[in-house]
Amino acid sequence: MILITGGAGFIGSNFVLHLLNDKVVQERIVVLDCLTYAGNMNNLASAIKNPNFIFEKCDINDKGSLKSVIKKFSPKSIIHFAAESHVDRSIIGPSKFIQTNICGTYNLLESFYEYFLALSDDVSTSNTTVNEITKKNFRFIHVSTDEVYGSLNPKDPGFTENHPFKPNSPYASSKASSDLLVRAWNKTYGLPTIITNCSNNYGPYQFPEKLIPLVISNAMDHKPIPIYGNGQQIRDWIFVEDHCEAINLVLKKGLVGETYNIGGNCECKNIDLVKMICSILDKLLPIKNSNKIKSYKDLIKFVPDRPGHDERYSVNNNKIKKNLAWKPRENLPTGLKKTIEWYIKNTDWILSVKNKSYRNSIDEQYCKNSVSKQND
Ligand code: NAD
Ligand code: DAU
Repeated sequence: MILITGGAGFIGSNFVLHLLNDKVVQERIVVLDCLTYAGNMNNLASAIKNPNFIFEKCDINDKGSLKSVIKKFSPKSIIHFAAESHVDRSIIGPSKFIQTNICGTYNLLESFYEYFLALSDDVSTSNTTVNEITKKNFRFIHVSTDEVYGSLNPKDPGFTENHPFKPNSPYASSKASSDLLVRAWNKTYGLPTIITNCSNNYGPYQFPEKLIPLVISNAMDHKPIPIYGNGQQIRDWIFVEDHCEAINLVLKKGLVGETYNIGGNCECKNIDLVKMICSILDKLLPIKNSNKIKSYKDLIKFVPDRPGHDERYSVNNNKIKKNLAWKPRENLPTGLKKTIEWYIKNTDWILSVKNKSYRNSIDEQYCKNSVSKQND
């Protein structure tokens, strides 16, 4: 049994679908998610029919419910995705970021440490069966971000796992704090944790507040495409499926106590990225019947910059490539084409995430038997 926090969000839901397709893993999956604005049961529509899939509506800030879920399912591993994840929201309202990303992670660590202590000691010395969960085979995987390392200058080498933490936004600082807590629970208490720090993800099911889905969604609606500042900032993009594959490898073969940086080796300036998206859209969805725009590029609008805007991220992923034989499969042109095609085919999904009252009724249907629901 694998427990996935935040499994109804963008990367979490992609990871659930990835695991359910993994013929080797064949474990049951429990998604634990409180369904904030970013969590959406529609993301898991194809998983819900699978007998190996279970959903529990639960807030990681609610320790009582958390412990009940852990007791109910006795997971062999936890993959922790749940977080407030959008930098702009953290600037406007940091409080939820501190609560969920720091205190929520602390709750998880405490609850899982208590659970871990009660596990049997070792497969080889006791009478354990192959599938039994022991202290030795239990894993706590913490999913984090490259933003903990701060911002790079144009010619700086990419972030290695030893790069100092210099987070700049409330979001990045809250994630850095959670990484340090996870580290402490490993070093001090021996909880078998592994941390991953990944660059900017894109792909299906990403909420249209992040740059790539926002650009696609606004372009399809012929709305302005906002570029912060001069658009010269650089991000190192990774297709979400590549990230999922990396996390799956970390779960199977990663070393306890280690950190693995994950990056797509696809650095790009925001303005170039946005123009690339517009060019792909011009081909896939040519503009008809408009006397205002000829290309989606005509919608680009430079707007005031984000405060504390990081200039450049770049991830050195040599460690995971060398030690776990991982490498990203997609580059920006191939990954963007797949992503844009998905958004063109799934306009209903875009509408559903924007329309909360519709969503709430859908989400409700799947939360009837959740522990937290029972405790409400
Ligand atoms: P997301 O915002 O799309 O999803 C977050 C999920 O967590 C949602 O389903 C939400 O309902 C759930 N959640 C939030 N608060 C919760 C709480 N208190 N209790 C239970 N569930 C809660 O985020 P994402 O983009 O999928 O990111 C997932 C993780 O990966 C985050 O930890 C993020 O920091 C990290 N990460 C994201 C990126 C990226 O580019 N998106 C890159 C690197 C790392
Ligand atoms: O690096 C990993 C991080 O990537 C994750 O940890 C975060 O959860 C994720 O949100 C993302 O953070 P960014 O701030 O880099 O992503 P965002 O999509 O918000 O912005 C990408 C770049 O585009 C950034 O330089 C800001 C810029 N931008 C963003 C928006 C939403 C614009 O120019 N216009 C916009 O409207």
